[in-house]
Amino acid sequence: MGADVEQAVSALLRGELVILPTETVYGLACDAGAARAVARVFEAKGRPQFNPLIAHVTGIQAALAIADLDARCRKLAEAFWPGPLTLVGPIKDASAVCDLAREGLDTVAVRAPAHPVAQAVLAAFGRPVAAPSANRSGRPSPTTFADAIEETGDFAAAALDGGPCRVGLESTVLGQAGGELVLLRPGAVTRQAIEQIVGPIAAGLGEGRSSPGRLARHYAPSKPLRLQVTDPSPRAAYLAFGAAPAGRPLTFELSPSGDLAEAAANLFAFLRAADRSEGSVIEVAPIPEAGLGEAINDRLQRAAGRVG
Ligand code: TXA
Ligand code: MG
Repeated sequence: MGADVEQAVSALLRGELVILPTETVYGLACDAGAARAVARVFEAKGRPQFNPLIAHVTGIQAALAIADLDARCRKLAEAFWPGPLTLVGPIKDASAVCDLAREGLDTVAVRAPAHPVAQAVLAAFGRPVAAPSANRSGRPSPTTFADAIEETGDFAAAALDGGPCRVGLESTVLGQAGGELVLLRPGAVTRQAIEQIVGPIAAGLGEGRSSPGRLARHYAPSKPLRLQVTDPSPRAAYLAFGAAPAGRPLTFELSPSGDLAEAAANLFAFLRAADRSEGSVIEVAPIPEAGLGEAINDRLQRAAGRVG
């Protein structure tokens, strides 16, 4: 089913959907300005209509054409783009990112992905591309081509194979509220890395209305999920972090060396594998909260239905 960049761009131009690799997770992409194409993305995901999409662009110039980004956001874009950071600012060009893609908000979320295939598509298409993660709503984000195809491949006119996603965790989403920067979704760029560039950002997560897409149960496998488990039960599929129980079957090692970036890259693929395994429940080792751990624990708590 693998297509090339040219086929993907002509599908986008026809208002059709494309499976698009990024460095974070696979996206289900469409022309951000085409409301009918955006509607088909929501249909494919089975997504509730209060979840606005990210507009993907090649870089800062293209972002500034559609969004008002203040000086701090521009500094962050210079530091982390192309890369896994999404910035939310007032919309400047509502024809490039239609109302439906923004769910009627007067703001837009923009990001320049680092994956060379995504960059090639964006450069050739020349306009913003709306792309949520390519999973069906409520399921883990796909981090491999095969998983993306399994989730929403039936709805895509073209699908690009960019290999396994390097980061494996969605982008960090940063908004502005009352002149402050607010972490709306922890992600691949850590709070600490952001604060090194712009100083302290608002502490709390912008849950609920200020971050419309953050449903409590969002990344859920179908089996029950237990967190912070150091002594897994015999019938569980176990996601270990650091040293794993020796010789235990049904164990998935997120990172034998305790590396959070490696664990992030493996997280969604292992949740899926555990879900497919013969384990009757999924148990996960404690993950430290530092750095990328904040985003990993956020996804795990959502998957376990503990947030909200
Ligand atoms: O890494 C990623 O960000 C991936 C890849 C494909 O780029 N995309 C992704 O999209 O995770 P999605 O739709 O699954 O998540 C978009 C997030 C949601 O939490 C949504 O609420 C937030 O961005 N968002 C989008 N527009 C927003 C806005 N105007 N204001 C506040 N939050 C917004
Ligand atoms: Mg998603």
